Amino acid sequence: MIRDPSSVPERQAYRLMISAFVPRPIAFVSTVSRSGVDNCAPFSFSMGVSSHPMVLGVSIGERDGRPKDSARNILDTREFVVNIVTESIAEKMNIASGDYASDVSEFEEAGLTRAPCDVVRPPRIAESPVAFECRLIRAVRVADNTVFFGEAVRLHVDDRMLTDGIVDVRKLHAIGRLGGPQYCRTQDVFEMARPRITGPKSARPTDAR
Ligand SMILES: Cc1cc2nc3c(=O)[nH]c(=O)nc-3n(C[C@H](O)[C@H](O)[C@H](O)COP(=O)(O)O)c2cc1C
Repeated sequence: MIRDPSSVPERQAYRLMISAFVPRPIAFVSTVSRSGVDNCAPFSFSMGVSSHPMVLGVSIGERDGRPKDSARNILDTREFVVNIVTESIAEKMNIASGDYASDVSEFEEAGLTRAPCDVVRPPRIAESPVAFECRLIRAVRVADNTVFFGEAVRLHVDDRMLTDGIVDVRKLHAIGRLGGPQYCRTQDVFEMARPRITGPKSARPTDAR
């Protein structure tokens, strides 16, 4: 099957895109509104953008032609927290993805615990073992979505998730989003060392990356 994406109806394009571009990490984003209502919602159109400085990107669409609460809160406050979703909070994450009114906090609805952040105002999700406190550095409009680029000003990692100073995927039990209602676990891990290219085919004769 080969398609010109521009000829695929909108709903079908969404379903095709999210089932083909897999697996996606889930940024469970917590924010706070101008009036102080805290909010959390999952976004899987998300990515790591840069590591030094540490920058994450989250793409948020619209709901009925209006900004979602997370997008509005980020634009209003320029702060958000990206919490990593693990198997143990998958169901709570799903509850938090419901279309709740702006004055409803998903923390209450999903039964999630607020933990204070060090630098930014929104709370992080205590049940999430990894959280990035972010300051908005840029918001880029792409079609009906806005991609929010946030620089991580604090990184929280539960020490129990670490092996030799880095996050151990076997301890973290993060989940990923697939198509439709499907998710994946991250325990089926295999390893490959990158090839080391030397000589005339090397982009850099002393490539050390
Ligand atoms: C796993 C998962 C991933 C999602 N990813 C996105 C996404 O990348 N962008 C988006 O706009 N909505 C996404 N959604 C839908 C939002 O979570 C949903 O619209 C939510 O109600 C937004 O909440 P808010 O209005 O409090 O910001 C996703 C939902 C789920 C369950």
